[in-house]
Amino acid sequence: MPTETVYGLAADVRNPKAIAAVFEAKGRPTTNPLIVHIGDPGDLDLVGEAISPCARKLAQAFWPGPLTLIVKRGAAIESTVTAGFDTVGVRMPAHPVALELLRAFGGPLAAPSANRYGAVSPTCAEHVESELGDRVSMVLDGGCCDVGIESTIVDVSGDQPIILRLGLITAAELEKTLGSKVSYAETLDVDAPGRARSHYKPAAKVYVVERDAIRAKLGELSGSGRRVGLVVRSRMEGLRGADHTQVVGDGRHAFARKIYDCLRFADSKGVDDVIVEPPGIGGVAEAVMDRLRRASF
Ligand code: TXA
Ligand code: MG
Repeated sequence: MPTETVYGLAADVRNPKAIAAVFEAKGRPTTNPLIVHIGDPGDLDLVGEAISPCARKLAQAFWPGPLTLIVKRGAAIESTVTAGFDTVGVRMPAHPVALELLRAFGGPLAAPSANRYGAVSPTCAEHVESELGDRVSMVLDGGCCDVGIESTIVDVSGDQPIILRLGLITAAELEKTLGSKVSYAETLDVDAPGRARSHYKPAAKVYVVERDAIRAKLGELSGSGRRVGLVVRSRMEGLRGADHTQVVGDGRHAFARKIYDCLRFADSKGVDDVIVEPPGIGGVAEAVMDRLRRASF
């Protein structure tokens, strides 16, 4: 199914066979929980329970949208969906096709990103087709995803909200809505599933290189016989040694929207390495940088 963030591999939360098939198709460890998508904010109480005022505020402010809330798991959700955890991730996506699907289906759909475990998330129907086409019964084409990286995840099941994954919705926006500090798991000693240091990886080796050091890195890699792809924010003149160059452009959200497609394109060219210019600072750039760090780990 399309969503505004990335494509998801959807299954009926009430169907254990379908849930097992999702883990199977992705090659995902059964210890890594799925998130649940709802078509109506009211369904939050169906999926979760003991919903805190803080969770309600965030749902009200950001749904439908790229925000996943971790809440206490409700009785309607089988523990296989959440890999045995007593919490569950819930999100109401903003994509019109996703909402239409959820409403037509009439119940929550579990959906992790529709990629093989550890790989790059798909942001167009073609990406899903090429990666999972032989493992899914249907790809619902909703065009290319507007956001381009996975949702922000906030754990609101405890006393304090904690960001588990950065995304388009930033800590500053969450704090503004809540009127209080929101911490980030990376800077705390918290243990949460799905935060592997290595993730979002294309086949090519990823190097994140500041603009003024790109020429030297390109020379070094291509000089040793490696084929190298390049992803930069704006054109760079007179560079030699790149197999191809992709320019993401300076739009506020362009980097997030295009990065996974750029990494897939590099793989389709069969390069050994891909050099990526950092996405900048602040806002969604921090979330993109988080993905690139894990991709290059
Ligand atoms: O934007 C998105 O969130 C996309 C689209 C399809 O909605 N979905 C997505 O799902 O990225 P997935 O499974 O690839 O990433 C969800 C992350 C995983 O790292 C998982 O470990 C974590 O959320 N997660 C799921 N349930 C959790 C829970 N109860 N507690 C903590 N983390 C959880
Ligand atoms: Mg994923």
